[in-house]
Parts: sequence; structure tokens; C-alpha cells
Amino acid sequence: MRPQTTDVRQIAEPRRTADHGRTGHRAPTAPAIVHASIAPIPDQHVRPALRAALAAAIEDTIIYDLDGIGRQYAALCAELPGVAVRFAMKACPVDEVLGHLARLGSGFDAASPQEIAQALRTGVAPGLIHYGNTVKSDRNIAEAYRLGVRDFATDCLEDVGAIAEHAPGSRVFCRLATTGEGALWGLSRKFGCSPEDALRVLGAARSAGLVPSGLSVHVGSQQMTAGAWVAAIDSLAAVLEALSRRGITPDRINLGGGLPALGVLDRHGRPLEPPLEKMFLVIREGMERLRAVNAAPLDFLLEPGRHLVADHGAIRAHVARLSSRHRLDGTREDWLYLSCGKFNGLYEMDQLQYRLEFPTHSGGQFVDAMVAGPTCDSDDAYAQEDGLVRVPRAITSGDPVWVHSCGAYAAAYATRGFNGFAPLPYTCVGGPALDGGDA
Ligand SMILES: Cc1ncc(COP(=O)(O)O)c(C=O)c1O
Repeated sequence: MRPQTTDVRQIAEPRRTADHGRTGHRAPTAPAIVHASIAPIPDQHVRPALRAALAAAIEDTIIYDLDGIGRQYAALCAELPGVAVRFAMKACPVDEVLGHLARLGSGFDAASPQEIAQALRTGVAPGLIHYGNTVKSDRNIAEAYRLGVRDFATDCLEDVGAIAEHAPGSRVFCRLATTGEGALWGLSRKFGCSPEDALRVLGAARSAGLVPSGLSVHVGSQQMTAGAWVAAIDSLAAVLEALSRRGITPDRINLGGGLPALGVLDRHGRPLEPPLEKMFLVIREGMERLRAVNAAPLDFLLEPGRHLVADHGAIRAHVARLSSRHRLDGTREDWLYLSCGKFNGLYEMDQLQYRLEFPTHSGGQFVDAMVAGPTCDSDDAYAQEDGLVRVPRAITSGDPVWVHSCGAYAAAYATRGFNGFAPLPYTCVGGPALDGGDA
């Protein structure tokens, strides 16, 4: 059935916990909620081209809006003049997206030889690709070197030794640990070292014939505070000064990823409203400060992932079932099961909520439902404490559902077919490429 776009768009409005008393439970006697005023998705998050493609889709698919991604890239470059963007490929390793960003001038943050090879297929020079993963085997390093990459992230002496052996003469930048506070995903333990370690690591790199070219940080993914960049810049400044005392003068600072998506909701269903302008201000001022403390000119890199793509990808899914059951304590719960979930496109659904839109239902009665994916796995659901989603009661199996702001970490995190649910095919709109393949 072809989905029809209604004039009055039905956007799922999360129901607040406070309305419920106990989280996630609805009293057995509670009446169905009648639609009153539903907040529309802010238009800047869903461009008309993406909306039109969603409306035209008759099967489940993930759609990337290349022009939207391009505009996001341009806006970021305008906010942070002089910063070179190296798109974090892991956020959206889709050839058309990478090719579009490469045409606009982006380089790439790759995390494996396979990602490096994919980046090279866009036609970018190897000098615009760095190996941003601190975790790599000897074989990974040698293969990256063979492919032409000469910039490597590192955070420990063991890795420096391996880079010196398998990628001789390369440039290394040392990743400083951050707390990850303020981010939905902190990334704080697995990567990065202390300032003292960074001095040792870059000193060892120099002794091993490598070029100690710089420092990097990652403030945590979907970082919600400008203060995280303040802290990161404090740390970078202190290490730059200490390096200078040891006669090491980096020429590059990599400010990492972490810039947020704007169109997603937190796991309770509340809009996430990151102070983006303030973040940019802090970063601009921080760059000035770092330039002032370094003895030589500094270049700056950024490795945005979700900020460039999240709000410019959407999924056309469909309703598997809206159902109602009683829990052991007697409370009734409504569940909306979608055709798409954690294992085939909505990997982050347990940490945040995507805005849902039900294009074929514009009024009538509503129920507050838990939202879950189609698999036989209990992780395949929105966080179950609270954050119910308002769903048209009349919705039936097969009705289309649009899932917004899911362009980041969607395709790459899809399983090969968990429980038989295959990865979604994808389509690109805008830009020079019009067709996609299997995600
Ligand atoms: C080294 C590195 N850079 C950049 C990113 C992109 O982060 P984000 O999507 O938060 O911008 C990641 C994500 O994990 C990363 O590990």
C-alpha cells in the first residue's frame, strides 16, 4: 500500500513520566488520550526532499539526504573557519554519503584498513585520511601504511612501537583521555591516556623516528555540554605547554567528534537541546588559546560523525503490531512493534528516542505505548523505564511509520540478519547520486 501524506502530520509525542506515576506503567482504568496539540518535528530537521522521499517509499528503507548532509557540512565549516573536517566514517559508511562529503572537501577519520580502502574509493588523497583508532594490530598498521596513510592516532607506548615498526616515519597524534561527562556515550575508558602518559608517548614516538605531530581528544558522543570542550581545551593547553618544555612542538590538534544531533529525544522522550552555538564559541575561543600557547602554527581537525548525518537520514518502516497486554502486577501496557529496531537500523534506541511520525493517521484516539523493534530480543526496544510514545489507536499492521534523525550509526550497526530481519536497503536523495544498494 502506498503511504499517503496527510496535511496535518501526526508526530508521536512522548508522554511525560510525571503523568504516569510509576514509570512505564499505565493505570488499568486510564482513558485513551485524545489528540490535542502535537508538536511538529522542527522543519530544519526534516527537509522537504527527505519528507518527499519518505512519502514515496512503499517498502522499508533508510533514506539519506545528501544535500542536507552537504548543507550541514557547509554550516559546520562556516562555524569553525580554518578547521579541516575528517568525517568519522563509522557514523555512516555509505559510499554515496562519503563521496558527497569528499567532493565538498572533507577528509576521513578511518578506524580500520577496510575503512581506509573505502575512503580511498571516493578519490580523496591518502593525506586526507588518518587512522583515528588507537586500537590496531601490527597487520592493521602495515596495511594502512601500504594504502598510503601516514597519520595515526595513538595512546600508549605499545602502539607507538608498532607504528614505528610497521609505518616508519609516520606522524602520530596522541589521544588524551576525557571524562565523557555530559555525553550520551562517554567513550572515556577504552581510549585516551593521561597528560603524563601523553608526554611519554610523544617522546617515545620522537625517539622511534616518528613525527610527534599532535594531540587529539573526543569529548564523548552526543555531547550535551559546552563545558566538555572547555575541559578538553584546558587539558590540551596544559599538555602543549609541557611538550614545549620537552622540545616537542606539535603542528596539529584534532578536536575529535562529539558534536550532537539536534532532532533526537533522550531516553525519556524529552527533546535534546544541546547548546550548539555555545559549543562553537568555546571551540573557536579554545583554538585561539591553543594557538597562543604553542610555539609553532597549529592546524585544527575535527572528526564529526553524527552531527553531519544524523538529522539527514530517516527510515521508512512499518507497523508490525500495536498490542495491549497486562503485566503480572495487573497494569496494562500498550506496545507498538515496528518493522525496524535495534538490530536493523535503530541501534541507539535504548539510549535515545527517535521521533516517529505516522503519516496515514492524523487524528482520533491515541494510546501511550512502549516502542520496540521486531525481533525476539528484549534489548530491541526503547528504554523501558518510561518515555511512552503517543500512538494513534487505529494504527494497524502494515501502516507506514517514519523514523526521523536516524542517519548516524544506522546502516553500520545493522546486523547481517538477526532473527532473519535483514539490514534495510538504502536510498540517497539529492546530490549527484540517486540510487543506493543494500546497507
Ligand atoms: C575517534 C573517533 N572520532 C570521531 C568519532 C565520531 O563521534 P561522533 O559521532 O560523536 O561525532 C568517533 C566515534 O566513536 C570516534 O571514535
